[in-house]
Amino acid sequence: TTPLRLGIAGLGTVGVGVVRIVQTHADMLAARTGRAISISAVSARTRDKDRGVDLSAYAWEDDPVALAKREDVDLFVELMGGSDGPAKAATEAALAAGKPVVTANKAMLAIHGQALAELAESTGAALRFEAAVAGGIPCIKALTEGLAANEITRVSGVMNGTCNYILTRMEASGKPYDEIFAEADALGFLEADPTLDVGGIDAGHKLALLSAIAFGTQVDFEGVQLQGIQEVSIDDIHRARDMGYRIKLLGEARRTEAGVEQSMRPTLVPADSPLGQLEGGTNMVVIEGDSVGQIVLRGAGAGEGPTASAVMGDVADIARGLDIPPFGQPAATLAPAQRANSATE
Ligand code: NDP
Ligand code: HSE
Repeated sequence: TTPLRLGIAGLGTVGVGVVRIVQTHADMLAARTGRAISISAVSARTRDKDRGVDLSAYAWEDDPVALAKREDVDLFVELMGGSDGPAKAATEAALAAGKPVVTANKAMLAIHGQALAELAESTGAALRFEAAVAGGIPCIKALTEGLAANEITRVSGVMNGTCNYILTRMEASGKPYDEIFAEADALGFLEADPTLDVGGIDAGHKLALLSAIAFGTQVDFEGVQLQGIQEVSIDDIHRARDMGYRIKLLGEARRTEAGVEQSMRPTLVPADSPLGQLEGGTNMVVIEGDSVGQIVLRGAGAGEGPTASAVMGDVADIARGLDIPPFGQPAATLAPAQRANSATE
């Protein structure tokens, strides 16, 4: 078989992690997928930057769209971020050319997911985004593959590593918000615009994606009742602790008779519960299905290794020829989301 040649746009925390995995696990990946996986070309904003990995064997493109269109790129890996701009343009260029795309970009998918899924299906290209939700936790694969025979009734959990890190470290250290925020930044957790994290928007994007996959609806980010952690004070955290609770940025999407209800907001959880004990950048995704009951997935929700692991899991699926629609069922069969609540009022 011919090798699967990647073009990687974005060489930040996640992009460098992907390069590292391809470089260190090439033989293992080839053995597992039956196909060699290599990198042809890369792109980022600044060419001359030491990124801690050897990129000398790869062609360089300044323009991510040109990268996506290169003849020696079979699979486009989008790791730049941003809901529009070059990420969307290059993703569209790859899909329009019938090339598969793997992305970690929840902001782009939460807003343009339906259109991109339709474009992908119209050209027969795969579009995969496991890393976009809960970093290293394979929750999208759990829903679309392992739990495909379940009617899902509820998905919930903690889906933003930055917020969980800030809330738990503020409690443990008693240090002020600004100092802890800098620690999260050093770990590579933060979005380029950190208000997406602390404002709950990033977690809302993830919940909207999971909800669409779980309930077979179009992505409805506007329907998420949203509140961030900016108003949570160290005093609130200590009062909660004194009563046996912790404050978590908790997301929940439920199917009700009236429609789907989605919320992402700071919530009190018992300190001795699995959610209450979730530390640092860890995420937890809880899925409830009619046959399986409840399953709990827990793991690193951000950072280089965990996120690159999820990206490469998708790349491996494509190398194997697995053909699953982006949202688990054909985009044309996704019903517009009917809201049980009035998030936008
Ligand atoms: P970084 O900010 O670390 O890296 C972004 C990369 O994209 C940089 O290499 C940057 O170039 C490049 N880039 C940005 N704009 C352009 C452009 N216009 N043209 C070409 N290249 C560009 O981001 P992350 O690696 O943290 O995140 C990447 C994606 O993964 C985002 O969608 C994010 O939401 C998602 N994600 C991130 C996680 C994490 O833990 N960090 C976890 C899950 C998802 P340069 O380096 O030259 O500035
Ligand atoms: N900024 C995100 C977080 C990255 O902190 O969870 C992972 O999606």
